[in-house]
Amino acid sequence: MMLTKTTIAALLASLSFVTAVPQGATSTSTSTTSSSSSSSSSSARRSSRYAASSSVPSTRPGLSSVFHGAYSGSATVTGALKASSVGTGIVVGGVPPAETTYPSDGQLHDAQPAPYVPAGGVGTNTTPIYNVQSDFDYESLALALYQEWIELDLFQYGLKTFSDSDFQDAGLTAEDRTLIEFMAEQEIGHATLISNILGAEAPQQCNYNYPFTNVREFVDFCQKLTRFGESGVYGFLGHLNSREAATLLLQSISTEARQQLIFRQFDGLFPMPVWFEVGVPQSWAWTLLAPYISSCPANQTRLAWQNFPALWILNQPNPARYNASQGFNETLGAGTNTLNSTGISGSAACFNNTGQSGNCNPAITQNRSIPLSYPGRVVNLTWDQPGKLVGPNNSYVTSSSAGTPAYVAWVSQLNVTYSALNLSSNTSGSTVQPDVETFAGDPAVNGTLFIAITDSDIFLTPFNLSLINEHVVAGPALYQAG
Ligand SMILES: *[C@@H]1O[C@H](CO)[C@@H](O)[C@H](O)[C@H]1NC(C)=O
Ligand SMILES: *[C@@H]1O[C@H](CO)[C@@H](O)[C@H](O)[C@H]1NC(C)=O
Ligand SMILES: *[C@@H]1O[C@H](CO)[C@@H](O)[C@H](O)[C@H]1NC(C)=O
Ligand SMILES: *[C@@H]1O[C@H](CO)[C@@H](O)[C@H](O)[C@H]1NC(C)=O
Ligand SMILES: *[C@@H]1O[C@H](CO)[C@@H](O)[C@H](O)[C@H]1NC(C)=O
Ligand SMILES: *[C@@H]1O[C@H](CO)[C@@H](O)[C@H](O)[C@H]1NC(C)=O
Ligand SMILES: *[C@@H]1O[C@H](CO)[C@@H](O)[C@H](O)[C@H]1NC(C)=O
Ligand SMILES: *[C@@H]1O[C@H](CO)[C@@H](O)[C@H](O)[C@H]1NC(C)=O
Ligand SMILES: *[C@@H]1O[C@H](CO)[C@@H](O)[C@H](O)[C@H]1NC(C)=O
Ligand SMILES: *[C@@H]1O[C@H](CO)[C@@H](O)[C@H](O)[C@H]1NC(C)=O
Ligand SMILES: *[C@@H]1O[C@H](CO)[C@@H](O)[C@H](O)[C@H]1NC(C)=O
Ligand SMILES: *[C@@H]1O[C@H](CO)[C@@H](O)[C@H](O)[C@H]1NC(C)=O
Repeated sequence: MMLTKTTIAALLASLSFVTAVPQGATSTSTSTTSSSSSSSSSSARRSSRYAASSSVPSTRPGLSSVFHGAYSGSATVTGALKASSVGTGIVVGGVPPAETTYPSDGQLHDAQPAPYVPAGGVGTNTTPIYNVQSDFDYESLALALYQEWIELDLFQYGLKTFSDSDFQDAGLTAEDRTLIEFMAEQEIGHATLISNILGAEAPQQCNYNYPFTNVREFVDFCQKLTRFGESGVYGFLGHLNSREAATLLLQSISTEARQQLIFRQFDGLFPMPVWFEVGVPQSWAWTLLAPYISSCPANQTRLAWQNFPALWILNQPNPARYNASQGFNETLGAGTNTLNSTGISGSAACFNNTGQSGNCNPAITQNRSIPLSYPGRVVNLTWDQPGKLVGPNNSYVTSSSAGTPAYVAWVSQLNVTYSALNLSSNTSGSTVQPDVETFAGDPAVNGTLFIAITDSDIFLTPFNLSLINEHVVAGPALYQAG
């Protein structure tokens, strides 16, 4: 049966919860309160205008007032969510024989269930249920929801914080601001969708602490935050028990991928310098996201994922520089390693740069006259020891089960490549950017990618990358390769 829009809407509406006003929010102050009468009447207006079904699903509101800044209290709960029993490690089995017996010769091998329908596939003859079916599903979607909530706030916060002339000075017009505003609206939809799938205990919106101080840094932060938002979902999509949830989540994250590309354009970067978008484990996304969440409302649903120790890239290529390699300790902190543009001026800056060939103003596409990074580049790194408090209410604790730091894992496109780590202390060292291609003509290390310090160079591929977690000493950090 073809799945129509109405079927999806009906199924989602049936799953959706209506206790929509979160703690700390007042019931009247947002335009998106799902169960309020004002919102139902505005939905009704929309419906009649577009002659759509009378049951346009309403959206879930975020907090009525998000607080920005650091958290300085102590948490009532500490540590990741844990089940009553925790095993010692994942046991990896062999390849099930049935996975390798299909002849793959272009012929049909089984009777067709219907005209024009080849045999096989999964879930093509069942009634779809858009729910979660395991702790893995719940925790993965809950993580994605934390991400959608911060994006909703982040895009609005940037627009509120910087003036029209700040944006203008960074080369961004009123129409560009409208596009960012529309991205915030997309996040309302994504947060609602995931909340509806999760049910009444779905995580609420939180309060945030952002590192940027100007439009250029805001744009770079958005470019990097959407990179791990997108990659964090690709990492688990194929592993969800619920294929139905995976289908809808992919349709959301494809939108997020477009946001990432547009923020790269606003950042003056080449929009898509890779052939494949990378996926990373949930604990990598959570490690990168948690430091920007200052506190969450009481009774917030907690997450089971790991927070690894923070990783700084001391000579992170800085896209605000004419020669990106020249920046040293020029980021706004560990993890995302967002560019710091405050101290860059004159001919060292690439924005509005007319004296040398090429600038880095917002554009559909940009060639950098000097590449941001290159194979063979020495990369200097420092990292934290485990045991630090991070995340909402400082209520999570960084940890690592790895042994001695020995490698840097470069996770990009379809590849996990290791470079040797030259230690200069227990928590600092250097490595050399590897020279590896995904396919001939496609340098694997490009774009905004992930690096981590590991104790092993274990061979991994996109579908089993999360097995790297027990080997992670620190990181990930986002490396700005192109
Ligand atoms: C986090 O802080 C908020 C605001 O102070 C508070 O309402 C909430 O209960 C705290 N949560 C935890 C887990 O400590
Ligand atoms: C960049 O150039 C534009 C157009 O000349 C100007 O409006 C803008 O203020 C300049 N911005 C900076 C930061 O120099
Ligand atoms: C990354 O991609 C950009 C844009 O295609 C290209 O200019 C640059 O040389 C690439 N970097 C590497 C290391 O291949
Ligand atoms: C938190 O949950 C408990 C148990 O459900 C409830 O008694 C309490 O009132 C809740 N607190 C807040 C601030 O919502
Ligand atoms: C860019 O900066 C790096 C680091 O200082 C330097 O080695 C390189 O020669 C510079 N490139 C150009 C083209 O100036
Ligand atoms: C980097 O800069 C920060 C402050 O801007 C300073 O606290 C830190 O020590 C510096 N790190 C290095 C390795 O120079
Ligand atoms: C960013 O750079 C400025 C100027 O170099 C410096 O004062 C500031 O501390 C830096 N910010 C961070 C978060 O390191
Ligand atoms: C942009 O970079 C590509 C690939 O490096 C090169 O072939 C092309 O000539 C460059 N275009 C311009 C206008 O610089
Ligand atoms: C970066 O690493 C290289 C190679 O280990 C080392 O020679 C250099 O001193 C390091 N630079 C800094 C600033 O730590
Ligand atoms: C290792 O690092 C030291 C300084 O920390 C540097 O002198 C040495 O050249 C580095 N060795 C390699 C192979 O990069
Ligand atoms: C480095 O690690 C070793 C072994 O874990 C420990 O004995 C030593 O004290 C550490 N050094 C520093 C400076 O932390
Ligand atoms: C990179 O990924 C491609 C595609 O999976 C694979 O064929 C290739 O062997 C990988 N390269 C390395 C160096 O791991």
